Amino acid sequence: MREFDDKNITQAVIHRLSECADPRFERVMTSLITHLHDFVREVNLTEAEWFTAIQFLTDTGRTCTDKRQEFILLSDTLGVSVLVITLNHPADNGSVESTVQGPFYWEGAPDLPRGSNLAEGVKGEPTFYSGRVISEDGHPLENALLDIWSGDGEGNYDMQIPGEKGMKARGRIRTDAQGRYWFRSIRPTFYPVPTDGPVGRMLRKMGRHPYRPGHIHMIVSAPGHLPATTHLFVAGSEYLDSDAVFGMKESLVAQFDRHPPGIAPSGERIETPFYTVSYDFRLRPATAVAVEGNV
Ligand code: BEZ
Ligand code: FE
Repeated sequence: MREFDDKNITQAVIHRLSECADPRFERVMTSLITHLHDFVREVNLTEAEWFTAIQFLTDTGRTCTDKRQEFILLSDTLGVSVLVITLNHPADNGSVESTVQGPFYWEGAPDLPRGSNLAEGVKGEPTFYSGRVISEDGHPLENALLDIWSGDGEGNYDMQIPGEKGMKARGRIRTDAQGRYWFRSIRPTFYPVPTDGPVGRMLRKMGRHPYRPGHIHMIVSAPGHLPATTHLFVAGSEYLDSDAVFGMKESLVAQFDRHPPGIAPSGERIETPFYTVSYDFRLRPATAVAVEGNV
């Protein structure tokens, strides 16, 4: 057949995959074409809307630089990132849930001794974090790594602060023989995802706010275990109920207990109110994926 109508066009496009040598790619593309065509038919897409969409995707690409990834932000704000993460990292047996990495991870944060202050010179209320990294069956994981980053107490990451060239509120901490970690940083606050590009325009047009609830990021890893890219969310923070990137998970909400000025867990005297928070990260064994893959 050489000519197609608004119905048989879908099968015709799928048929052209018949020589595809990669079965997984064929499956993904067949589904993509099916859903894309159904979407166009369902909303009866106009040509003007189609060109607007092309222009939007073009702008999204043009907004990307080596420091900014507008396509990931688009995926995040449409809930696709967290959907992919949730499918690929089931939180079973009480293991820590994964969530979005976001655009502010910076590889190569300094290795710091336990107890370090990651937020030297960073605005925000002092907070003492502690807990353990443990295996699925509750054994402490020695030498597990927490690669930590957060914004400051005003919601800005170092990369976003004009004139700030170095790393701030970042560090890598390892657990001791009992699987314990502890460090000092600040209590993170809510902040907006970048809104000065096409994704910001999309959010405004949708009538959506751009805010994420207060959270600190970490990638937790240990030999023989699956790493988890995750957050701790500040209990009671604004926007926990409406995270702009849908990354909030109840199991990651941690209590930040407020203390009056005085002696901190580190033994130092703190002249302002400060917070403590405790959280244990349970990691799945690396074999978990291999076993699931065989089912
Ligand atoms: C973040 O938490 O850093 C973030 C995540 C997704 C989009 C923008 C920011
Ligand atoms: Fe963040």
